[in-house]
Formats: sequence, structure tokens, C-alpha cells
Amino acid sequence: MTTIALLPGDGIGTEILDGPVAFLRQLARDGAPVELTGPWPYGTTGWLRTGSTLPDETIAACRDADVVLSGAVGTHPGVTAEECPNPEAALIRLRHLFDLRVSVRTVRVPGGEDVVIVRNITGGAYAGPDRRVESDGVRDAEDHIVLDPVRVQEVFDIALEHARAHPGRRVMSVDKASVYATSRLWRRISRATAAATGLVIDDVNVDRAAYELVKDEQLPAVIVTEGLFGDILSDIVCARAGSPALCGSATVNPDRPFGNGVTALFEPAHGSSPHRTGSRRSNPTGAWLALADLLAWCPDLAASGLHASVRSALDRVLDAGAPTYDLAQPGESTLDLDEFNERVLEELATVTA
Ligand code: IPM
Ligand code: MN
Repeated sequence: MTTIALLPGDGIGTEILDGPVAFLRQLARDGAPVELTGPWPYGTTGWLRTGSTLPDETIAACRDADVVLSGAVGTHPGVTAEECPNPEAALIRLRHLFDLRVSVRTVRVPGGEDVVIVRNITGGAYAGPDRRVESDGVRDAEDHIVLDPVRVQEVFDIALEHARAHPGRRVMSVDKASVYATSRLWRRISRATAAATGLVIDDVNVDRAAYELVKDEQLPAVIVTEGLFGDILSDIVCARAGSPALCGSATVNPDRPFGNGVTALFEPAHGSSPHRTGSRRSNPTGAWLALADLLAWCPDLAASGLHASVRSALDRVLDAGAPTYDLAQPGESTLDLDEFNERVLEELATVTA
């Protein structure tokens, strides 16, 4: 049995999960080994309800679950940044609490092939509070970037799994070896990995990588990089794809310690879009991509091949033309969230029949 804790979070987070959650509830009714708990309070809406962006009841629910399915964390309509200054800290804390230390993002590029971005997400630039010194505005602020070679190798190992699935496509390792000691370690491990596996890995400085990701016609199959570089470059790849909604995000503990709390968190990579909340016009592609990743990650669910069904249903809908507001041509009539979900659910009913 797989237990999924639902943490819809803020803004469009709830509505964006409607389609995937309807599908999961149907699976559960049909006897699949899956149960959903929640929705649990999280982010700005968690703060509104309980005074905390990551309340104890939500942490307890994550201890009782195998994975998290999340919507978005960030600004929520009606709450100012002064009232709830850093809701994103809830996501960062969850990653640290459950050692969800590697981020794997899948960007679906219309008319092209997926780009996968793999990065470390609890060490390096994303280290916890013990590696930071806050400033009072007079004293220095400090962020210590520390990379453990074992953890870097682990990120490469995951990236290589994706690279091997796409032979012939480019693998890009991104660093800033001219400046950072951590990047020189990164590059050393990149070269050793290439030598040990025979795979071609292009080592590219982060500024050049940004340029190539905007300019080159062919995008790489895999980008493997340090947390902050990956945060920035994944948004650039989304821009190339046409929308931040075309990205599904998985944050995983590669040890897969099932039975001891959540092993991974799945979410669309976009923000909470407070101005669009309630309009039901958002593009739910990222949530469907996150669901496909979730189904592939959980052993009890992966066996049935459902992840491939979700992905092919989504691809069929998108390939047939699904002009959500973000992807529509000027003057083209647009599809809303519910119409989009209906199409995916219909395709899924055909694929899984
Ligand atoms: C993302 C976000 C997060 C990150 C924030 C909300 C902490 O930007 O998922 O890309 O930087 O990882
Ligand atoms: Mn980001």
C-alpha cells in the first residue's frame, strides 16, 4: 500500500491538483494499493490556519506517508509578505527533515524531447540554517557552500540513469570551476564519471550554459548541476518549452527508505500564481507530470505501468493541441483547467481500459 500525503499549499496549488487527485481517488476506489491523506496545511495557507507554515500535524502526516503530492508554496491571495514573510521555508524544511536531497525535474518541450535537470537540493547552496549567518544590516551575512563528494557522485549516478535512457543526446554538467572550489570538485567528479562510464559529459560554465540553453536549437537530454545553478537553469529550460507549467518536479531521497516517512515529494515546479487563483485557467501539465513521476517512484504503483499511461494520455492531449492561456496563440480560444483535465481523464480511461 502506498500512502500519499496531499499538501496543496498556496494560491493555485489546490486547483492544480484536482485532475491528478481525481485520478488517484478513482484508482483507490478501483482497488489499487493507494490511499490519500489530507489535505494537510502547508505554506501561507498553513500559516493562516495554524500560525505555522509547516504545522506539526503536517509533519506527522508526512511521517505516516510514503510520498507527498504538493501543489505550490508561496504567496496566497489576501496575505501580505509582511504577515507571512517566507512560506517557501516550509518546503526547504520538509526537504531537510526527510533527507529529500536530490531534485529531478522533467520539462516537456512541445515538439521536442524532454529535458531532465538533476541537482543536489539539501547541501551546497541549499544547505540548512547551520551553514548561514544572518545579518542585522550592519554585520556580514554568510552562506557557506559545502559539497560532499559522495553526495555529488550520487547526483551524477541519478543523472546517468536518465542519460542512458536517451543515448546520443547531450549530457551537460554545469559549474563555475573558474571561481568556486565546490565547482572544481564538481568538475573532477564529472570527468571521473565520464571516464568510468564511457559517456560523454560536457562540462560547461554556468554563464555559458545559460546562453546555450537560450540560444541552441537542440536542448540537452540531461543537465546535472549544483542546486542554485539548477534552480535558475530549470526556469530557463521552462521558458524555452514555453511555460513554467511544463515542468514536473521530484525531490527524492535516493536511498528510498520506504516505511520511515516520506521518501519523495512531487509537485509542479511553478509558483502559486496568486493573481490567477480561483480562475481555473491554469495549465495543469506540471501536476500531471509530477503524478507520472510519483507513480513511477512507488514500487506498489510502478508495477502496474500507470506512470506510462499517465504520460501517454498527457502527451496525446498536448500533441492534439490544448491551448491553455499560457500556450495559446494570440486570438486563439483557450482551454481552461477543467476542460484540460477532462481530456486527460478521458484519454486515461481509454489507455487504461
Ligand atoms: C523551486 C523553487 C524552490 C527552490 C523554492 C521555493 C525554495 O524555486 O522549486 O524551483 O529554489 O528549490
Ligand atoms: Mn525555482
